[in-house]
Amino acid sequence: MKIKKLFLQNFRNYENENFTFSEGLNVLFGKNGQGKTNCAEAVFYLCTGASLRIRHDKQLIRIGAESARIVAEAENRYGSVTIEADIYENKREIRVNGSKIAKNADLMGHINSVFFSPGELRLIQDGPDERRRFMNISISQTSPAYYTALLRYNKILDQRNTLLKNHDVSLVLDTLPIWDEQLCQYAAVIIEKRAEFVEKLAPHAKEFHSFLTDGKEELVIKPEWKYDGGEEIIKTLRRRLENNYERDLRLGFTTVGPHRDDLDVLINGVDAKTYASQGQTRTAALALKLAEVQIFKILSGEYPILVLDDVMSELDLPRRKKLLKCIAEMQTILTCTHAERVLYGADCSKIRIENGKIKK
Ligand SMILES: Nc1ncnc2c1ncn2[C@@H]1O[C@H](COP(=O)(O)OP(=O)(O)O)[C@@H](O)[C@H]1O
Ligand SMILES: [Mg+2]
Repeated sequence: MKIKKLFLQNFRNYENENFTFSEGLNVLFGKNGQGKTNCAEAVFYLCTGASLRIRHDKQLIRIGAESARIVAEAENRYGSVTIEADIYENKREIRVNGSKIAKNADLMGHINSVFFSPGELRLIQDGPDERRRFMNISISQTSPAYYTALLRYNKILDQRNTLLKNHDVSLVLDTLPIWDEQLCQYAAVIIEKRAEFVEKLAPHAKEFHSFLTDGKEELVIKPEWKYDGGEEIIKTLRRRLENNYERDLRLGFTTVGPHRDDLDVLINGVDAKTYASQGQTRTAALALKLAEVQIFKILSGEYPILVLDDVMSELDLPRRKKLLKCIAEMQTILTCTHAERVLYGADCSKIRIENGKIKK
């Protein structure tokens, strides 16, 4: 998968800019606050239909403008693909090869990307939300069924949580089983796909981690949740939901289910979330992201576009060099403030960004 051209109009601090990317390593460099992350964000938006940093698309529109436009010309293994997004204050339109898509799920998979920023380097040390987000974004890009199940699950979950705040307890207890029936159907899809994903991811993460630590550390990741497979998932979850009716009512929200499930991460047999050093958890996060890239390759037959936003400066010298080795085969968009300090003469196309413009 390759992105060849990107056009930004009134997107963030860009007024009108055309990017041309090469097949290998593309380096966007420039001082802070110039628009490097904004450009990376635009690529991510066309892959997922979502922004990395915000909830409301409105913020993506350049201040003073009425709408923003992002267009990418890319190539996947089926041929060329053009994605256009027009973002207005209260709506947006996305087109794939000229046809307007009806729902976000239809956008997934045309261009896949793995996005990596200093935030993702905290994937292990931060709370479970980040790890669920990691799974959700990653799995959604290759499985529309997962994405759809997740949206429906979250919707029913919201309704269930609203119901739990109702003071009419007998009404709540009568209604819960109805919600739970649907909730469990979607939860089963989420749980199953996540389990498959983690099972595929774990050996690659272990291998990358071993490479990054010169074989000194062993990384194990596994689901922390326990459900039996197939039909049993639904039964187990329904039982767990029922067992927690009282607690859920008391707390006013749903306390069990995939929205609470986490990953276990062990380094040399020890729980990394609690005991690993910052350097260790960063290396493990890096290994997880590199493993994610491999999973995309296996599932879709080609490498995703790798976006490395400002991560080099967060890594020590040996890790940087190893990372450059790992990404040599794929198209990468890398942002940094000082290209020469992080690249060590690696072959690349450099694009200098200044105040929302490409500086020739
Ligand atoms: N909607 C917007 N309209 C105009 N400027 C924006 C908008 N959103 C962000 N910016 C500007 O973009 C700049 C930040 O760009 P960013 O890509 O994060 O910088 P960096 O090069 O450090 O990655 C800031 O100057 C900010 O004011
Ligand atoms: Mg930035």
